[in-house]
Amino acid sequence: MVKRFPEGFLWGGATAANQLEGGYREGRKGLSIPDVLPGGKERLHILQTPGFDFEIHEDKYTYPNHEAIDFYHRYKEDIALFAEMGFKAFRMSIAWSRIFPNGDELEPNEEGLAFYDRVFDELHKYGIEPVVTISHYELPLYLVKNYGGWRSGEVVTFFERYAKLLFNRYKDKVKYWLTFNEINSGLMMPIMGLGFAIEKEEDRYQPTFQAFHHQFVASSLAVKACHDIIPDAKIGCMLIQAPTYAYDCNPENVMYALQEGRLFNHFCGDVQVRGEYPAFIKRYFKEHNIELEIQPGDLELLKQYPVDFISFSYYMSRTEKKNKTAEEVGQGNMIGGVKNPFLKASEWGWEIDPVGLRITLNELYDRYRKPLFVVENGLGAKDKVEADGSIQDDYRIDYLRAHIEQMAEAIEDGVELMGYTPWGCIDLVSASTGEMSKRYGFIYVDKHDDGSGTLERKRKKSFYWYKDVIATNGEKL
Ligand code: BG6
Repeated sequence: MVKRFPEGFLWGGATAANQLEGGYREGRKGLSIPDVLPGGKERLHILQTPGFDFEIHEDKYTYPNHEAIDFYHRYKEDIALFAEMGFKAFRMSIAWSRIFPNGDELEPNEEGLAFYDRVFDELHKYGIEPVVTISHYELPLYLVKNYGGWRSGEVVTFFERYAKLLFNRYKDKVKYWLTFNEINSGLMMPIMGLGFAIEKEEDRYQPTFQAFHHQFVASSLAVKACHDIIPDAKIGCMLIQAPTYAYDCNPENVMYALQEGRLFNHFCGDVQVRGEYPAFIKRYFKEHNIELEIQPGDLELLKQYPVDFISFSYYMSRTEKKNKTAEEVGQGNMIGGVKNPFLKASEWGWEIDPVGLRITLNELYDRYRKPLFVVENGLGAKDKVEADGSIQDDYRIDYLRAHIEQMAEAIEDGVELMGYTPWGCIDLVSASTGEMSKRYGFIYVDKHDDGSGTLERKRKKSFYWYKDVIATNGEKL
């Protein structure tokens, strides 16, 4: 049976400012969190361990986000390549510190605003719809150091000012907005998502959930402003999703997987989509001595301004067992859990599970009954440039094909799906490890982990394959 994607389906690709732009000090940009995150394996360790100092140590580390792939200067060439693939949509983020270098100013930086005007104009020249993340792991560093990141309620005000400015400035150019990238990732890695480092493991809970509360309020304020300023725009949340399976049919393990999955996959979505804290979180707060400071009017605001759609990233599933041995924990993938004997993993230990995407789409649609948008998916892999200059990335094509097939199944299941923007459509800096060698792109960029490379762009085999997928609206896979 031929599986059809709806007319107007938003095929495209996804990126984030800090991972591709570079120009980290150009155009009066201020510093932001990724500017102080070193490249290489140290990064993941820093992200997962208490006590990060948010300083640059050039004597010890390299900082790949500073130049990234230089989209700041090469956006025209890159957008022309996206257009050649037939992109209908391009997911990108705005670097908050280009617009407000410190984050708390009253007046914005015109040079930063003008840069994104040029990018949006270039996209529209080819009929590509921008899908814009307002905050993708790049809180201005000044807000981290002087306000404690999202722990502070003042940051809500700064975010609202920033979001309103974006809506007013780009109201004729951007119709799809996302609030916080992978908001629930703050549970694992608060440095990137919530803008502060845990000081001691045992002190994790209170500040994490207080910071979430501030982001939820900020998200509702953004929804309100977006609807007021751009009535024909849609604004969504952005969640990281990893369906959580029980290791076996032992009810203890099933219950444990349900609890872990609910907290990780659904807590943030429940607040942002249903507009209220879910029942299950109250017990969790009690058991972890969490007492949220909630301002008068906050809960009403959450209820009144839920998001219009749910966007999410999907790379892998997770398998859980109640009493794991230390050895079993180590064998699971990077978001935790134990090894799933039915799945293979990427070189970085992310367990590849296309059916898990169909499960996620069904679960989210059953739960929320709102349109869904897969705004990240893909395989991080090492690519080899052959002697003739070609890149034969069949493994990437296989991964993407299998996931697109499952999206088609989910559409048949009745899920309302707006689009698909696979991650890192052009090679860029990895968020978790700062590596260039962990590549996702249809377009190869000649840049390496040690910072060397000409930055030349090359079309991979997957480039031509994806072009056909888009041209046939997903019928030729
Ligand atoms: C998501 C992020 O976690 O996954 C992206 O939104 C990130 O910023 C992507 O790059 C892939 O992760 P990584 O660590 O392989 O770059």
